[in-house]
Amino acid sequence: AVSLRQLAAAADVSVGSAVRAVRLDEPDYGHWVGEQLSTLTAENELKWDQVEPAQGQFTFTNADKIVQFALDHGQMVRGHTLVWHSALPSWVGAIGDNTQLEAALENHITSVVSHFGTGVDVWDVVNEPLDDNGYLRTSGTEGFWNNRLGAAYIANSFHWAHAANPSARLYLNEYGIESDSAKARGLYELVKGLLAQGVPIHGVGFQTHKLETTRLSGLADTLRRFADLGLDVAITELDVRMLLPADADKLARQASVYGWATAACLAVPRCVSVTTWGFTDRYSWIPAAYPGWGAATMTDASYVEKPAYVAVQQALLAG
Ligand code: G3I
Repeated sequence: AVSLRQLAAAADVSVGSAVRAVRLDEPDYGHWVGEQLSTLTAENELKWDQVEPAQGQFTFTNADKIVQFALDHGQMVRGHTLVWHSALPSWVGAIGDNTQLEAALENHITSVVSHFGTGVDVWDVVNEPLDDNGYLRTSGTEGFWNNRLGAAYIANSFHWAHAANPSARLYLNEYGIESDSAKARGLYELVKGLLAQGVPIHGVGFQTHKLETTRLSGLADTLRRFADLGLDVAITELDVRMLLPADADKLARQASVYGWATAACLAVPRCVSVTTWGFTDRYSWIPAAYPGWGAATMTDASYVEKPAYVAVQQALLAG
C-alpha cells in the first residue's frame, strides 16, 4: 500500500509523529516510523531535563539516536523544544540571579542547536508562552521565563537559535490556538510584533491536541491568518483522545478530526507539515495524563491502522 510519506510528498507536505528513541529498536515501531513518516519529532529527548541535566553537562545520546534514524531514512527532524516552563531540571530554577539565568538560557540554546547543526531542520524555539487569555504567562511555574527574564526572553531565544544555525526554520509552538480565540489573537499580536522587530521567526506550530467530540471548524482560516504574516505554519502535535473504551462511533468521530486537521493543512499553501503526537496507542502520553482516556492515535496497540489513519490517507490523496 502507498505509505503516508509517499502520499504526503505527492501533496507537497510532510507527515510526522513524535517518536521515542528507546522504541526505535523495536521492529514493529522502527519499521512503521521508517516507512510511514517524513519528519520526526523527539517526544522528550530534546527537552532541557534530558539534554542538560546539570549545568554545562550535555547528554545527547537519545536525541542523537533519533537524528541518526532520520538521517538513515531520509527524514527531517523537528527539534522540540529549546525554551519551555516544563521539563526543566531543578538547577535552572535554582539560579537566583537573572543575568546568570539569561546566560544559562543562551548557553543552552547555543550548545544544543550547535550540537545538531543541519541534522535538525526545524526548532520549536519557544513552547507554550501564553496563558488562556493570550497574555505572556505570569502564574506559577508556567510563568518562569517571563517572570524572571521579561518578554525579551522570546526574541532573544530566537536570535540565539538563529546565530547557532542560520539554516534552521525557527518556530513558536502553542496549543489552544486552532480556532479564533483570545489566545489565538494574543499569539497573532505577539508574532506580528516579533516580525516587526526583525526577530528571526519562520513558523508557528499548532499543537492540535483534541477530543473525538471536537469539531475542528476554523482551523484552516486560523492557519491562513498566520501564514498571511509571511510565516510557515504546521500542525505539530495532533492527537484525538476519547473516553475509553473505544467504540466504532468514537473511532469514526476521531477519524473525522484527523481528516479535518490534515485537510486544513493541505488547504493552506504555507502549511508545511502534519505531525501527530505519537502514532500508536501502544505508546501514547494520553492514558497517563488523562486517566480513563486513550486510543488517541492513528494505529492501535498492535500497530493496526485505525479509521483515523485511513482519514489521513484520504485527506492526503485528495491533496
Ligand atoms: O525520564 C523519566 C524517567 O527517568 C522516570 O522514571 C519517569 C517516571 O517519573 O519519568 C520520566 O520522565 C517522564 C517523561 O515524559 C519521559 O517519559 C516525565 O515524568 C513526564 O512528565 C514526561 O511527560 C511528557 C510531557 O510532555 C512533559 O515533558 C510526555 O511524555 C510528552 O508526551 C508531553 O508532550 C508535550 C509536548 O512536549 C508539548 N505539548 C504538550 C505535550 C503533551 O503534554
